[in-house]
Amino acid sequence: MHKKKIKEIFIGSNNKGKLKEIADLLPKSLKIYSNLDYKIQSPIETGNTFQKNSLLKAKYFSKKTNKICLSDDSGIEIDILGKAPGVYSADWSGKKRNFNLAIRKVYKEIFKKDKNWKKKKITARFICVLTIFWPNGKFISKTGKIEGRISKSSKGKNGFGYDPIFIPKRKRLTFGEMDPEIKYGIDHRFEAFKKN
Ligand code: IMP
Repeated sequence: MHKKKIKEIFIGSNNKGKLKEIADLLPKSLKIYSNLDYKIQSPIETGNTFQKNSLLKAKYFSKKTNKICLSDDSGIEIDILGKAPGVYSADWSGKKRNFNLAIRKVYKEIFKKDKNWKKKKITARFICVLTIFWPNGKFISKTGKIEGRISKSSKGKNGFGYDPIFIPKRKRLTFGEMDPEIKYGIDHRFEAFKKN
């Protein structure tokens, strides 16, 4: 993440789960600013791809703060649902961002597609596009992915969002059950971060 040249960075997100995860990935020597200091309203995510929304957010927060800004757009794609909720992952949790609601909707939609789904492997992946945007207009975007499957039931209290229903490939626990340090070292955000 161009660690040596950048001395301070603004993390453009109002999602506390993401904020914590991104801050943990960055070098400790970096001065981190976030919306906990600035209280800037998030922009409306008008893009129909992770790439467009990631860039839109990084640019918006950089213009507002005049700082180098790092933003993420991410979500979960569930193959049996035609890759939904995808870029609309946050929307499925409603205005109040209630992820119990979003998770119930996921199970309902999967059941509608296949009543015997619990006997099958419901493949899914988390995707993250991280964008770093400089006040001079330069930017870099990178994509990270982690493949996995949907668990038969919601499990674990760690993490945020869809963590309790996602089991990464070759693992037995959901992200919600996993030690956060283990999740941070393998997930979509880390994969995107490594490439920047
Ligand atoms: P957005 O990037 O602000 O549009 O929100 C993406 C949504 O995807 C989040 O609100 C979460 O619901 C979900 N999401 C993204 N990354 C993760 C993750 O690491 N764990 C669980 N849910 C995630």
